[in-house]
Amino acid sequence: MLRLASILCLVSSAFAQLGGVQYSFIPPTDVNFSIPTLHLSSITAEDTFHSLSHPHFPAHQVRVKKTSFCDPTVNVYTGYLDVDYGAKHMFFYFFESRRDPANDDVMMWINGGPGCSSATGLLMELGPCRIDMKNVSSNGTVWNPYSWNNEANIFFLDQPVGVGYSYADYGETVETTEDAARNVHAFISIFFETFNQFSGRPIHLSGESYGGRYLPAFASYIHDQNQVAKAAGRPTINLTSVLIGNGITDISTLYAGRYEIECGTAALESPFQTISNCVRMKIALPRCNAAMKRSCVDSFDSMDCRAAVAFCDAELSTNYHASGRNVYDISKMCLGDSLCYLEQSVIADYLNRPDIRQLLGAESTNNFTGCSREVGLNFNSHMDKYAVPSQYYVAGLLERGIPMLIYAGTYDWQCNWVANKLWVDKLEWTGKDSYNTEEWRDWFVDGEKAGETKSAGVLTFVTIRGAGHMVPFDKPAESFAMVSRWLGKDNM
Ligand SMILES: *[C@@H]1O[C@H](CO)[C@@H](O)[C@H](O)[C@H]1NC(C)=O
Ligand SMILES: *[C@@H]1O[C@H](CO)[C@@H](O)[C@H](O)[C@H]1NC(C)=O
Ligand SMILES: *[C@@H]1O[C@H](CO)[C@@H](O)[C@H](O)[C@H]1NC(C)=O
Ligand SMILES: *[C@@H]1O[C@H](CO)[C@@H](O)[C@H](O)[C@H]1NC(C)=O
Ligand SMILES: *[C@@H]1O[C@H](CO)[C@@H](O)[C@H](O)[C@H]1NC(C)=O
Repeated sequence: MLRLASILCLVSSAFAQLGGVQYSFIPPTDVNFSIPTLHLSSITAEDTFHSLSHPHFPAHQVRVKKTSFCDPTVNVYTGYLDVDYGAKHMFFYFFESRRDPANDDVMMWINGGPGCSSATGLLMELGPCRIDMKNVSSNGTVWNPYSWNNEANIFFLDQPVGVGYSYADYGETVETTEDAARNVHAFISIFFETFNQFSGRPIHLSGESYGGRYLPAFASYIHDQNQVAKAAGRPTINLTSVLIGNGITDISTLYAGRYEIECGTAALESPFQTISNCVRMKIALPRCNAAMKRSCVDSFDSMDCRAAVAFCDAELSTNYHASGRNVYDISKMCLGDSLCYLEQSVIADYLNRPDIRQLLGAESTNNFTGCSREVGLNFNSHMDKYAVPSQYYVAGLLERGIPMLIYAGTYDWQCNWVANKLWVDKLEWTGKDSYNTEEWRDWFVDGEKAGETKSAGVLTFVTIRGAGHMVPFDKPAESFAMVSRWLGKDNM
């Protein structure tokens, strides 16, 4: 049986073909350069959507409304981007910055899966409010003083279609990261070109987990489309940085990292796994690595890659699952469903409440689920995680001067910090040598050590000690301090 937990970051088994990296968006040539613009403050109605279309994206339309949700101290908007001639509808939440919305940067947050809603990030991690787990609030949420909108305008996007409140009219699907990139680019373009108070404003793309696959591809597509827009004299998106937390990017180091988390002292002070299991895993690791290198990395063969991953999972993941520990936090047991946190079902119940759906303008016909099993399986059918090496996008972005923050909580097993360290160490780019000769140093929040960090050029790596996969959930003050320093271009 496919454990739902496994789709948050590591997808296994089914058949697929190598599609290659293909983008089919062709910008229209006979564009109308008179762009209809709107100031967000002109949207005041809470009961109806305001519809906006854009001449550069004739197949797309945005519906947006104001709402009194989650953060009473700022303007909050929710809405849909209707893409592909209105057949696919992508839901977003937008929160103005608590500090200076007219001047602060813009940030996008996405969760992973593939198939998981950004509501997890919003209501469990870094959003302005968190789900009320103690029944102390009359509105279902409690204030988060460490929200990332303290210093940035931020939107949470349910993507691709089929995730969270996002839906399709006729069962259309998006099944690869490269296809998802087109809709995300359209969303951001329309957003910036329509709400002209943000035009030219720096945007940071952030996310976690499968975001390590999504974000490098999305940022690369935005960068490439910017060159097309520039040549046509159209406005560009001011892509300013990419932040990836506990991501899955280069798949070749994942299992070696997991071995270190379970059988070494990379996470806990002494290994929790039995010696006999660790010996068995250690013996399997070179075979796992060799099989993945041959069939997934050096040249991708769908069927052989699947077999390699199945072998690696059987030999290197089974013991962890049998331990009953939380796959996202080695220091805890797995609670609730296979996503391992009790918050997940409370969030789903909350977002399925008719009054909350109405407050947000949710129009999907399906019930809300934190992670869509169907979307996960569709991506898996294309072996999306393995078919395109995401580290090549990362290198491409770094070479073009796009700053990247790779951060990781040290208690995660699933997309663990060791796997991330290993792939960043071996990433081929012009800053490789200087990154590798740089010393690790401790970084601090309120005088306490928060983790380790190092930087070279536009690349920064940060660990957060004692945090699991969902870093802002476990270490809210530290994660906000990290983001604040990153946005302020300060050292960690
Ligand atoms: C261009 O778009 C604007 C705003 O939608 C519209 O008012 C105008 O008539 C259009 N011009 C042409 C030539 O289509
Ligand atoms: C939460 O509190 C309200 C009143 O304060 C009560 O009616 C409700 O039953 C409580 N819910 C739970 C799950 O304890
Ligand atoms: C919800 O209630 C909490 C306190 O229980 C409060 O801090 C918060 O501001 C409220 N949220 C909204 C959107 O009114
Ligand atoms: C992007 O934002 C930076 C920082 O505000 C600014 O200096 C730069 O001019 C902007 N670039 C564009 C193309 O708007
Ligand atoms: C949504 O959930 C309700 C209550 O659990 C159930 O009765 C209904 O069939 C579900 N709807 C869909 C479309 O799955």
